[in-house]
Amino acid sequence: MKKQSYIDPHPSSYNSRLVVEMKMEMMEGLRIVDFKDLLNVLNSLEDELKQLMITALNAPEGLELLGTKLDYLCEFIVSEENEKLWRQWGDREDVIQCTKRLRATSDEALCMVEKMRALRVYTEEWDMDLYLSLLSASVNEERHYAQIDGTSKVLFIGAGAFPLSAFIIAKETCAEVVCTDIDHEAIYHGEKLAQFLGLQKILHYSDSHLRHPEFLAATTHVFIASLVAEKKELLEELKSKVPPNCKIIVRYGNGLKSVFNYPLEISLLKEWQVKSIKRDNCIYDTIILQPHKMAAVKAT
Ligand SMILES: C[S@@+](CC[C@H](N)C(=O)[O-])C[C@H]1O[C@@H](n2cnc3c(N)ncnc32)[C@H](O)[C@@H]1O
Repeated sequence: MKKQSYIDPHPSSYNSRLVVEMKMEMMEGLRIVDFKDLLNVLNSLEDELKQLMITALNAPEGLELLGTKLDYLCEFIVSEENEKLWRQWGDREDVIQCTKRLRATSDEALCMVEKMRALRVYTEEWDMDLYLSLLSASVNEERHYAQIDGTSKVLFIGAGAFPLSAFIIAKETCAEVVCTDIDHEAIYHGEKLAQFLGLQKILHYSDSHLRHPEFLAATTHVFIASLVAEKKELLEELKSKVPPNCKIIVRYGNGLKSVFNYPLEISLLKEWQVKSIKRDNCIYDTIILQPHKMAAVKAT
């Protein structure tokens, strides 16, 4: 089975990967016996990501090292062993603060990896098909549950510079897709990549969904990326702006997964009908939301 990853790394320099993998094995070998060990592991991960971000800016192999470290983080958050530790100490204030710092750093690192990978694909013509095929299985699952087809109008909030899900949906269904991001560099690279892939007629970028009231009023599906913090605020805002039958697909990660995802308190979603997509070993969780009123109409 393919390893879970946000980034699906391109085959990289064997030696440099080996060094990072050896360090990872050393970390895996560390037995976490109390909360101090857990704090140490979280702090080390944060320090290493910061260091690798500097390396990535200065050495060609740095990008792959950073990608490998983020892959390790993905494995860390789906480990059952770590889940048990989290149940013991995840509520401690020091662990919560450490988690927030690590999430901010991993978010920054992923944004950086996405921009650099996008740049490599559209300037050096890396094999994008590899990325698309690796990810399409999990994206297809979300697409199947959300019933997206060529007539759909899909909004991606927090698409980033390398929005594989958005590209796969546009490529495979020809649905009209609008990607938004608050980061202008992510928009720049994402647009270039869309152009490189020949998707520019159906996939557009913008700095805010609020700039497109007509599209919003006809939107059939909204995706909210896992690394968007303001999920609750966005849902509140979207409620009155999208059609009542629009499906909102929210990716999130609670508990241990909040190390690399922003959380969402599902019990607070009282105005929505919530359907969970269950998948084992997934680095983020997904729910599909529809307003309660719409669900009631369907039931009669
Ligand atoms: C790193 S990308 C990765 C997307 C990833 N595939 C996921 O599902 O989380 C997350 C992007 O969300 C963007 N972002 C964060 N908050 C946002 C918001 N409120 N509105 C739009 N974009 C946002 C960031 O700038 C970043 O480019």
